[in-house]
Amino acid sequence: MTNASALPVVRTVAALRETVAGWRAAGQSVGFAPTMGALHEGHLSLIDAARGAADRCVASVFVNPTQFGPNEDFAAYPRTEDADAKLLAGRGCDLLYAPSADEMYPAGFATEISVSGVTEILCGASRPGHFDGVATVVAKLFNQVQPDLAVFGEKDFQQLQVIRRLVADLDLPVRILSAPTVREADGLAMSSRNRRLTPAQREVAARLNRVLKATAEALAAGEPAKPVLNAGADVLKEAGFDGVDYLEARMEDGLAPLQEGAGGQKARVLAAVRLNHDDGGDVRLIDNWPFTRPQAR
Ligand code: PAF
Repeated sequence: MTNASALPVVRTVAALRETVAGWRAAGQSVGFAPTMGALHEGHLSLIDAARGAADRCVASVFVNPTQFGPNEDFAAYPRTEDADAKLLAGRGCDLLYAPSADEMYPAGFATEISVSGVTEILCGASRPGHFDGVATVVAKLFNQVQPDLAVFGEKDFQQLQVIRRLVADLDLPVRILSAPTVREADGLAMSSRNRRLTPAQREVAARLNRVLKATAEALAAGEPAKPVLNAGADVLKEAGFDGVDYLEARMEDGLAPLQEGAGGQKARVLAAVRLNHDDGGDVRLIDNWPFTRPQAR
């Protein structure tokens, strides 16, 4: 166990289990916040939620290769473990689990978990295989940490639904909590990828949440969905995004298509956009906004 920042750091499943077993023997419950590091206030709100709901809090930092496509930003994804450990310690996290890729996926690793349905739309359609990588690593992390509860952010709203499905389908004994999206002063959802934006792109990025909010307000006012969503996608393109993967409205429950007769039920507008990076790749941003369709009269 290393302790570079007043926060114990473990890198093996054996060391992790030894620490957690000690807490269990003392009758303490365990909350868990899985992350890929480059931590910001959004992640730290997950730590706050885990600490508030359990006696002990574990965070993981693991940039999971299996959830990145071949042309995505795995290599460029920011890695800032020392800074992350300090932030976690400052927030009262008890343990950082930061395994190597070999610890997570030893030679011969051959198992994949694939959740169907909810993974086939939105980000799943534009990032084939992404949610298989997420489901597999999250199932492994749950088995490794064996937490009572785990906290996921609502910014990755589809991921949250995938994890809920995974936990229900595999009878995993982990309670899933969600934490609201944490935003910058101009409304941009906090994301580790924001730090890859140029100042000019950062200005463009702030338009995303405004378009989502305006679209959600129009849908909440009962305007017809298709033209509202088409207009929103046009505004995003005109705002300077280099690509709009999707702008869609869906029911919160299972991310089913928006039902016109679903007045009073919770729904979300969700979007994924891209900004070109001068390394030849791009920075992909996602966000979503809640709304409720009015009751039919
Ligand atoms: O949300 C993330 O940061 C990742 O998808 C997660 C849940 C840590 C799995 O790698």
